[in-house]
Amino acid sequence: TNVLFTASESTPFVKTGGLADVIGSLPKALKQQGHADVRVILPKYDHFPEPFASSLVKKTSFTVNVGWREHIAELFEYEHDGITYYFISNDYYFGRNNVYGYFDDGERYVYFCRAVIDALPHLDFTPDVLHAHDWQTGLAVAFANILQPVEGMRTVFTIHNIQYQGWLMYEAFDDLFNLPRDHFAGFEWKGMLNCMKSGIFHADKITTVSPSYAQEIMDPYFGEGLDPLLRERHLDVAGVINGIDTDSYNPQNDPNIPVQYKHSREKKRQNKEIIQEELGLPVRGDVPLYIAISRFVEQKGFHLLERILPEFLQQDVQVVLLGTGDYEFESSFSWIAHMHHERMATVLTFDEKLARRLYAASDFFIMPSKFEPCGLSQLIALMYKSVPIVRETGGLKDTVIPFNQYTGTGNGFSFQNYNAHELLQSLQYSLSVFHDPLQWKALMKNVNKSSFSWKDSAAAYADIYKELTAGAIKESD
Ligand code: GLC
Repeated sequence: TNVLFTASESTPFVKTGGLADVIGSLPKALKQQGHADVRVILPKYDHFPEPFASSLVKKTSFTVNVGWREHIAELFEYEHDGITYYFISNDYYFGRNNVYGYFDDGERYVYFCRAVIDALPHLDFTPDVLHAHDWQTGLAVAFANILQPVEGMRTVFTIHNIQYQGWLMYEAFDDLFNLPRDHFAGFEWKGMLNCMKSGIFHADKITTVSPSYAQEIMDPYFGEGLDPLLRERHLDVAGVINGIDTDSYNPQNDPNIPVQYKHSREKKRQNKEIIQEELGLPVRGDVPLYIAISRFVEQKGFHLLERILPEFLQQDVQVVLLGTGDYEFESSFSWIAHMHHERMATVLTFDEKLARRLYAASDFFIMPSKFEPCGLSQLIALMYKSVPIVRETGGLKDTVIPFNQYTGTGNGFSFQNYNAHELLQSLQYSLSVFHDPLQWKALMKNVNKSSFSWKDSAAAYADIYKELTAGAIKESD
């Protein structure tokens, strides 16, 4: 099977969140395991990083119509790690300082999705499946379904986060879409146009990034208004848990961490002492180190942490928070760290290398998300033998099994309700397990066994592709 991925971001070229990690690692897994020939088409933003920028090869250019507008699209090609990447370049839409956050984001991705369809004849690659991710590429699925640019090509649409939907004024349909009016209903939602809805409505198969989240988004609490449509299409919805790149996130050979290790708590302690020194915390390998690494936004449950941190910091513990985000959280976490500088540090940057050193140094990883489609950092934490403490939602629920001191099962700690003191209880419980050698040993055994490679999930996607393309052949017979 030939599969063309399309998305708005991918490592190692451009990343604002977990979506980029998935687009950067799943195609490789699918290809290496012999499931599919996967290629990826992305927008080319400004600040395209070296060394990639200077090795891009221009293939061709063509015109893309966005309503009455005629825009150029330059098509570039690049091989990286055995995967062929295509880039659509257009200065007017993508020659900007940031990836997202512009008044015309909707129009930018209308253009991109149209360019993806128009690029198909120029690729020397005939996809059997177009696999699009999140709202930015929802319209590519819709256009493919309506315009049928490649005979028999089927579509998969993956929801990584249903909170961001890509809304446009309904007038944009006539102004931007170049489609007959009778297709309007497939794009309309609550009096506006909605790119996420368009993808869900038109895709042959809809997936999301964990089985629990697939169930949750059918429910109004998690569905962000799209739950009725998902319930209608529930037979075509599947949840496939994300993997991570286990070669890259491996403490045995991660060049970013001072002391490499497999399971050794002693070597983790050495990493801890180096970080403590660096962050100005008391250098004491025996103190349990709790960390959170995240965007500081409401989704990640930081209201809960903010509420109980001062109380938790009464214990003999250390806490380090790393990330950037909403001003509200940045300032309150800085303030709490300032008031408890003997036990806590807040680092307001997005620093991949420091993140890896913190995973390596820490004993516990806090992630009390309000909702979490999959979550990758709890998986990375487990790779670095840092015990996740999570709320039981979405992918967190599917990957972290609560420790049970009586049966000795579980690889982390979790709580059910979105309630600050339930988080505090989990933190206190984790601390008591940390200080109980027998329980700690049982927990470590399970943590050391946890692994989240792409193996099973890549096979699950391959089955979906197979099912879809087998159907296509039957239909045309
Ligand atoms: C989004 C979700 C996150 C998921 C990631 C990759 O960022 O919020 O839960 O892990 O996409 O699928």
